[in-house]
Amino acid sequence: MNGANVSCFAFKFIRLHKRELCRARIAGQLCRTHSQHDSLSPGHLLLSSRYMSHRIHRGYSSKSLVKDCRGLLYRNHGDPSHVVKLESIELPPVGADRVLVKMLAAPINPADINMIQGTYAILPDLPTVGGNEGVGQVAEVGSQVTRLKVGDWVIPRDAGLGTWRTATVLREEDLISLPSDIPLLSAATLSVNPCTAIRMLSDFEDLKPGDSVIQNAANSGVGQAVIQIAAARGVHTINVVRDRPDLQQLTDRLKAMGATHVIKEETLRRPEMKELFKTCPRPRLALNGVGGKSATELLRHLQTGGTMVTYGGMAKQPVTVPVSALIFKDVKVRGFWVTQWKKDHSQDEVAARGMLDELCTLIRAGKLSPPACTEHSLQDFKKALDAAMQPYTSAKQVLIM
Ligand SMILES: NC(=O)c1ccc[n+]([C@@H]2O[C@H](COP(=O)([O-])OP(=O)(O)OC[C@H]3O[C@@H](n4cnc5c(N)ncnc54)[C@H](OP(=O)(O)O)[C@@H]3O)[C@@H](O)[C@H]2O)c1
Repeated sequence: MNGANVSCFAFKFIRLHKRELCRARIAGQLCRTHSQHDSLSPGHLLLSSRYMSHRIHRGYSSKSLVKDCRGLLYRNHGDPSHVVKLESIELPPVGADRVLVKMLAAPINPADINMIQGTYAILPDLPTVGGNEGVGQVAEVGSQVTRLKVGDWVIPRDAGLGTWRTATVLREEDLISLPSDIPLLSAATLSVNPCTAIRMLSDFEDLKPGDSVIQNAANSGVGQAVIQIAAARGVHTINVVRDRPDLQQLTDRLKAMGATHVIKEETLRRPEMKELFKTCPRPRLALNGVGGKSATELLRHLQTGGTMVTYGGMAKQPVTVPVSALIFKDVKVRGFWVTQWKKDHSQDEVAARGMLDELCTLIRAGKLSPPACTEHSLQDFKKALDAAMQPYTSAKQVLIM
């Protein structure tokens, strides 16, 4: 920083500091008691569509780093580009067991889009703030908070907390701390897709180094995490993607991550597969994020007694299981939902912490990178939502607060 920049920075800082002091004084005059908010559920919203945006509350102390909150809200289900709006949100006081979190980054996942459209398995009461995943930083803690401190990075413990916002007040128990020595985009995209990938690779088949896994939607967030975690365990991956003009580029990218084979959907039905299985064992595990014909084709290539786990249905087509696969190969057809896993293990701190620690160790070792991401400011949310619904992008849209 040169001399001119330093003085410019110092001047800006003093100006900002004065503004904060002035606001704090105003806060003292305008403060209101909102004790009922202490009993609200974590994801509940206090809306302030117009004049409320700058109101400051008694529990929201002048030392807070966060004064105003904006978020992406929807009041009705429908097309995300029509129903989602950027609005001011009134934050409740930071009660004794609550934590004020300044959100840093949050991705747009298919489940978020389905929730807005009203087609997902769980739908929060409306109005609500979109987003189920993301990373934030603790800005203030209530008097009874013991596990978290100001400055900690945190992620939501469960879905439905509404992460597309600049700040939020949550119960301590709704948050899990994360080490802040991992990249921001890794932290923002950690709690859904890598957790799904690691559970599916761990909980259905006892995979050993040298075994193989086949998956469709291999360029998805889940797929990229599967490739990397499997490679770190010495497990081969056969990765199925849809054909596209930049197929070679995508293939190169997935192989650089550790993919053993990258093939087109059409190849699954071709004799070339026999060639592939001369050098790579038939998979014990198939991971299906698509459904329809793609899932049926994955099943055909499983080893006898192997398992297909369905975790997504991007093609919006049912899964058809050939009779022969059941009779002659005794394949197991299973499903996985990370939200259910988190519910089932909500009292098992060791399991959740152990999984995150394992993922963070892989990240630090350079073995697990975040998916390719396109970053957007919160104001640019329409562009971000639009891009998240386009096919063949091979990139996760991430809102940077
Ligand atoms: N069960 C769980 O616990 C769990 C957890 C995480 C995610 N999921 C689900 O897993 C799926 C992937 O999520 P993500 O966040 O990894 O996705 P993502 O990064 O947004 O990628 C979407 C993927 O879906 C593919 N796709 C889109 N439309 C398709 C279609 N009509 N036919 C075939 N493929 C299609 C895309 O391929 P192109 O590049 O060819 O468009 C891309 O590979 C979603 O259904 C999501 O809800 C489930």
